Amino acid sequence: MLSRSISAGRPALRSISILRSTALRSSNSAWRYRSIATQAQLISSKRNFSTTKLLQKDTTETFPVVPASVAPQIEQTETVWKHEIFTEDEMDRVSIAHREVQSLSDRVALGAVRFLRFAMDLATGYRHPHDSQTEVAKTTPGSTMTEAKWLVRFIFLESVAGVPGMVGGMLRHMQSLRKMKRDNGWIETLIEESFNERMHLLTFLKLHSPGIFMRTMILGAQGVFLNGFFLSYLISPRTCHRFVGYLEEEAVITYTRALKDIDAGKLPLWNRLDAPQIAVQYWNMPERHRTMKDLLLYVRADEAKHREVNHTLGNLDQKNDPNPFASKFKDPTKPHPSKGLADLKGIGWARDEAL
Ligand SMILES: [Fe+2]
Ligand SMILES: [Fe+2]
Repeated sequence: MLSRSISAGRPALRSISILRSTALRSSNSAWRYRSIATQAQLISSKRNFSTTKLLQKDTTETFPVVPASVAPQIEQTETVWKHEIFTEDEMDRVSIAHREVQSLSDRVALGAVRFLRFAMDLATGYRHPHDSQTEVAKTTPGSTMTEAKWLVRFIFLESVAGVPGMVGGMLRHMQSLRKMKRDNGWIETLIEESFNERMHLLTFLKLHSPGIFMRTMILGAQGVFLNGFFLSYLISPRTCHRFVGYLEEEAVITYTRALKDIDAGKLPLWNRLDAPQIAVQYWNMPERHRTMKDLLLYVRADEAKHREVNHTLGNLDQKNDPNPFASKFKDPTKPHPSKGLADLKGIGWARDEAL
């Protein structure tokens, strides 16, 4: 593909060719990421949303490093939230699911998600053949998505997806303080969800550095979405959890389509790109299972978990019910909600099954 573009007279690609050969010779993995990600951006001739410069910025610009002189006694800073171990089989079993609308509140939630999806498709230049909600075509002949376009979409999606859990968790925390009442385990799960979404974002930022236009759009989207979700959660937390459940259904569809594109050979640059180190550490990715495809399998499994958690929370009494995902069950041999993928339910657990 590169040689075709060079012969077509695109001068910028000449320097990329040199970069590429340098990168292939080099054992430095940072160089490899940067070079391949840059090729992905260049091959995408129409960038709708990102104004990333010709050469992707060094990741130290995206992740400023604290100089050793500022914290001379610190060896490493770690998180308390360790990710569940997902097996390959469990992740392969994750599939698209849709919970049927059952009430007016569900209808409002689904309508809001469909509207946002339309706006985001427009903004990120997303073009993909329309498949049914429950099935993705085996081949995707009409797909115009390149590696760079997928990354732009993932980054925008994840920057928004990290909002609801933090807002819901924060509001329930405040309510617990105000009403001097226990919360019964919802807060931790919600905030951990937003942490998990932020890890998705940080991972994709290792592969693509957004330009000033995209950063401005993310800023605007966060301002609108954060305030909108905050007010909505005060009015109807049940509708908000349903909204997130439907949003996560869309996220699973998006990542399933990207995986299908990889399988169909439409994203060749990702075939020789390993998952960034931040992802390897966070998901505990086993050796020989650290490809871009493996990475997307982990991210999709997380989205399926958020889908299950939020649809389930949307089925519960918002004021009094405990969070089943943070609960110990009397009979652990019976299928029940958990943090792992063992008994994953695409459409969530009904209240009488979950409690
Ligand atoms: Fe995510
Ligand atoms: Fe998610």
